Amino acid sequence: MESIQTNSPGNADVDAVIASAIEALASGELVAFPTETVYGLGADATNDLAVAKIFDAKGRPSFNPLISHVADMSLAEALAVFSTDAHKLADRFWPGPLTLVLPRTRTCTVSYLATAGLDTIAVRMPANEIAKKLLSGFGKPVAAPSANTSGRVSSTTAAHVLSDLGQAVRVIVDGGPTKIGLESTIVGFDNETPLLLRSGGLARAEIENVLGRPLRDHTTPGSTPNAPGQLASHYAPHAGLRLNAEAAQDTEALLAFGPSVPAHSGPSLNLSPSGDLIEAAANLFAYMRKLDSSQVDAIAVMTIPAEGLGEAINDRLARAAAPR
Ligand code: TXA
Ligand code: MG
Repeated sequence: MESIQTNSPGNADVDAVIASAIEALASGELVAFPTETVYGLGADATNDLAVAKIFDAKGRPSFNPLISHVADMSLAEALAVFSTDAHKLADRFWPGPLTLVLPRTRTCTVSYLATAGLDTIAVRMPANEIAKKLLSGFGKPVAAPSANTSGRVSSTTAAHVLSDLGQAVRVIVDGGPTKIGLESTIVGFDNETPLLLRSGGLARAEIENVLGRPLRDHTTPGSTPNAPGQLASHYAPHAGLRLNAEAAQDTEALLAFGPSVPAHSGPSLNLSPSGDLIEAAANLFAYMRKLDSSQVDAIAVMTIPAEGLGEAINDRLARAAAPR
């Protein structure tokens, strides 16, 4: 295991460490960086495999969609469709502790794993100087959940990140303790109605002032957001899903896993020919979408082992297979 690169907060060497973090992102590795709210565990949001590493590192048994962090409005608008109200909020509060959940643009390059297969995307422009340098230097969106393992509180210092996620990150940019110490406030829209999806570092009243109307409350108690499942429900293909399939029928598509694949003349994709669960997670949502668009009656899915990221993959497949 290579050693982790980091800096002393406030030291001149921070720029060199930011440069290393940009290189690490570009080569598909994970980095930790401060934002004004909490530390983020970042990956290139356009790289499926890099995003899969985030879920592997967090050790969460399910895939929650992640926030894409950007340095400027032109990138934000390349990823998400901004309504007039969304523009108002971005103009007033970005950069800052506000996350907007908006429809993905048709040309959005963010990994479908990062958005958990949804047609919406969470976008945020952080205010922290280190985060700004990192994001503008990288030039692409960075997917970053709070830098903690599942079930632990969000990290507000580099030392927290190191003790919690030290194994998984290549670079930790140390910016000292974060200013706000609470995650960003998340706002989404149900048609024209603004929704509060998670309370956080930006007060609800400030948002309502700018919009000139109240936010409908979609939060659950505690800091865990109610999403996904609020705006669009979990991603589910139009075709039915048949799990633990040993072979696919003529009217079905085959979603395979591993080296031994049953013969099939219809549409077929292999999540990971070598049986690698991180690779399978990286391909999961994109492949479900691809097979679904081939207009089959059902997608036959081979058995995925229930270890490591297999747990989260099986969780998603079970939800997508559930009757609706
Ligand atoms: O302050 C923050 O927001 C920190 C820093 C690092 O930016 N990030 C953070 O990320 O708290 P995370 O992944 O721990 O929480 C983001 C939450 C997810 O749990 C998810 O439920 C919600 O945002 N979310 C993301 N995309 C969504 C979508 N398309 N629809 C609904 N909710 C979404
Ligand atoms: Mg979190």
